[in-house]
Amino acid sequence: MLRQALLVASRSGGARRVVETAPFTGDVVRRFIAGETIEDAADVTGRLTGEGLLVTLDVLGEDTHDKGRAEANVAHYVELLERLGAAGLGTRAEVSLKLSAVGQTLDEDLALENAGRVCEAARSSGTTVTLDMEEPTTVDANLRAVHELRRDFPDVGAVIQSYLRRAEEHCAELAYEGSRVRLCKGAYAAPAAVAFTDKEEIDRSYVRCMKILMAGKGYPMLATHDPRLIEIAGALSVLHERDADTFEYQMLYGIRSQEQRRLAAEGAQVRVYVAYGRDWYRYFMRRLAERPANLRFFVRSLAGR
Ligand code: FDA
Repeated sequence: MLRQALLVASRSGGARRVVETAPFTGDVVRRFIAGETIEDAADVTGRLTGEGLLVTLDVLGEDTHDKGRAEANVAHYVELLERLGAAGLGTRAEVSLKLSAVGQTLDEDLALENAGRVCEAARSSGTTVTLDMEEPTTVDANLRAVHELRRDFPDVGAVIQSYLRRAEEHCAELAYEGSRVRLCKGAYAAPAAVAFTDKEEIDRSYVRCMKILMAGKGYPMLATHDPRLIEIAGALSVLHERDADTFEYQMLYGIRSQEQRRLAAEGAQVRVYVAYGRDWYRYFMRRLAERPANLRFFVRSLAGR
């Protein structure tokens, strides 16, 4: 219930104004957001990669309804990628892109063209792009875009959400040689008609999906902080005799940082999803929705000062 309410609030202009202008929101936001500028992102990326972690960078600014904003987002990604290339970070840091940030709500073809420009910049910098998965209504369009983009950029990463009833089908379709696939549980409001709503069911679906991806020929990117699922991932890598460089774990910046370092110290590849930018509201609300304790912490920090 609380999760649904927070996800609804993530799309509400009124709630947005309240949260964004509340005093001291910034302290809580900074736990999950790496900063506001490219410099902030570059600093955090340098620090994390220096510690042996991999990074994927997300420029906040989803659900753009304005062509100029979409263009500005593309330009920002291109600048970021040039910066990563110039710093020699292309092999350790990639970008995550939301089609809704580059015009999907205006025109699917425009978003595809814009995503292609970001992929081109990534290629020039020796790195890759993963297309984040968003609302359930956009899943088919997103998978079509992955398919289209992979004609020119075979290393474009896809994302599968295990809360979707069709997740196993998506995994089977995408578990082919060279296919980079991030598996996550799913962070958006999703109706029972298309998605599991019970946590246990979502977790069981995650395990079934992981089995398909780990048994397949692709490159699984296991995005979860869930200790049980991470343990099962390790067991599956042994079962399928996967070397450490044939799959990776992924976690969000600010969440279970110790675990990220522990896995990396054991020789696993661990990529940290680093979001930055001024347009943090929706991303932040999804993080609150994932864990009621975050909301309590947030409310306490507002009330306690
Ligand atoms: P779960 O929510 O069950 O959490 C397991 C444990 O992790 C918790 O008990 C807690 O310890 C910790 N934890 C989880 N979330 C936390 C939080 N917000 N704050 C503090 N602790 C927390 N979703 C999507 O729909 N599309 C996408 O493209 C992506 N991309 C993506 C990339 C990466 C790298 C990650 C890690 C996640 C995503 N997600 C996503 C989000 C994902 O769908 C999911 O909402 C979160 O990862 C939380 O689910 P867990 O698998 O961590 O399990």
